[in-house]
Amino acid sequence: MINHHSLTLVATTAASNNRGVSENHIARAVRRASCFLAMAKASQATWGGRFSAGPAELMLRFSESVSFDRRLAVFDIAGSKAHSAMLAHVGLITSRERDAIHAGLDELRAEIEAGRFRWDTKLEDVHMNIEQALTKRVPAAAKLHTARSRNDQIATDMRLFFKHACALLREKILGAERALLAVAAANRAVLIPGYTHLQRAQPVFLAHHLFAWLEMLERDRSRFVDVADHANWCPLGSGALAGTTLPIDREFTAKALGFVDAKGRPRVTQNSMDTVADRDVFIEFAAACALFGVHISRIAEDLILWSSAEFKFVELPDTFCTGSSLMPQKKNPDSCELLRGKSARLQGNLHTLLTLTKGLPLTYNRDLQEDKPPVFDSFDQTALCADVLAGTLGGMTLNAERCAAAVNDPALLATDLADYLVGRGVAFRDAHHAVGAVVRLAEQNHVALNQLSTADVQGVNPAFRDDWVQVFDLKRAMARRAGTGMPGPKQVARQFERWRKLLK
Ligand code: ARG
Repeated sequence: MINHHSLTLVATTAASNNRGVSENHIARAVRRASCFLAMAKASQATWGGRFSAGPAELMLRFSESVSFDRRLAVFDIAGSKAHSAMLAHVGLITSRERDAIHAGLDELRAEIEAGRFRWDTKLEDVHMNIEQALTKRVPAAAKLHTARSRNDQIATDMRLFFKHACALLREKILGAERALLAVAAANRAVLIPGYTHLQRAQPVFLAHHLFAWLEMLERDRSRFVDVADHANWCPLGSGALAGTTLPIDREFTAKALGFVDAKGRPRVTQNSMDTVADRDVFIEFAAACALFGVHISRIAEDLILWSSAEFKFVELPDTFCTGSSLMPQKKNPDSCELLRGKSARLQGNLHTLLTLTKGLPLTYNRDLQEDKPPVFDSFDQTALCADVLAGTLGGMTLNAERCAAAVNDPALLATDLADYLVGRGVAFRDAHHAVGAVVRLAEQNHVALNQLSTADVQGVNPAFRDDWVQVFDLKRAMARRAGTGMPGPKQVARQFERWRKLLK
């Protein structure tokens, strides 16, 4: 701890390091140091009572969070308005005091929104900045922190933030989903090979592939509903960790802040210690963002492959690509690569939060202040990624010829040929083996699978009839994939309808 004595010491040592130092020098240094002390003390009006010295300048820089938690100001002000309304409701402050506090908070909010508010890192965080600015204007604000701690205050601010953030990210992801549906609709008839092990496997409608992406994104969107629901419990009233002796009304505050269930009944957290220590929602939010990141990374990877000269299924929009500073011919799929890259960052944020909270003793510990930068970063990057994905998809065009050429490989229907034999009473294992032999034969003869003669294939298995080549009619082959979830035209049409309704 820094006190007058140690400051004098620091000042004396500093001054005597200079050769030929005068008494005057020392006196000036001591004066400067004590002046700093007085300033530091004065700056901590909120908790400085039991301290004989304020925090060191280094400590202030180290411990401030206002540089990043000021973005919680709107939620902090909403929380303070609800809290003071409750204090008036139970008679802990007068309605005049409440009105003065509310008017002051509204004024501050307007200043903050207009960028006119002066944030002061000496005041540590968003809570103390707002409270002290308010107290300077509204004397009654000295009563605002009655029955409240920054511990339940930050828990409340963040829960309000999560509800807002989840709603916004749902909108953003919906935008990307709509862009995806538009690509599918504009290329309804396009067939491409589906891949396993990145080897051509079986034909699918492009729409079926895109709908797989939609399934992923739709799960992401619903995950944010769950996170918002988990956030929907009001912490205020939990105090520092053990509530308060004052006769507050937690349900009143919860209702005022919209922490209510579907029937409008207030939802308040049920254990004061858990409330100030719990960071589950932070982790769930970051996990939902990280999983979204995994999904967009896989989508991006498909697009990067599809846009390469080797595939050339798609042309990505110039507006979301960049060139090479050296190679004039290059057009690089940077938006997709960055989507893939950002997913690493989203996973890192989740990991930071998991590591931050493990092993922390109950209840609040200052470590928890580090919970906000990863959450805010995940929020910002997820929102940005969803927009960029929508933009990239929106400007993308399909190369129908390249897709058709790729999907016309008859080998993609080798499984259908095995199914043909199954239809003729051959056991699937034998059928699989026979078709394998047919594929080998075609390779040896340097012809496409469907260019072999009927006699050739009958030589492999007598169950083949003249009609065996009909298996390679792609249209017919697709129509046979008729069951729910399959890529046949009827099912794809059904999915178009389903997605149109879901993404309306
Ligand atoms: N800035 C703090 C945080 O983000 C607010 C809570 C401070 N509580 C405390 N006991 N120092 O965690």
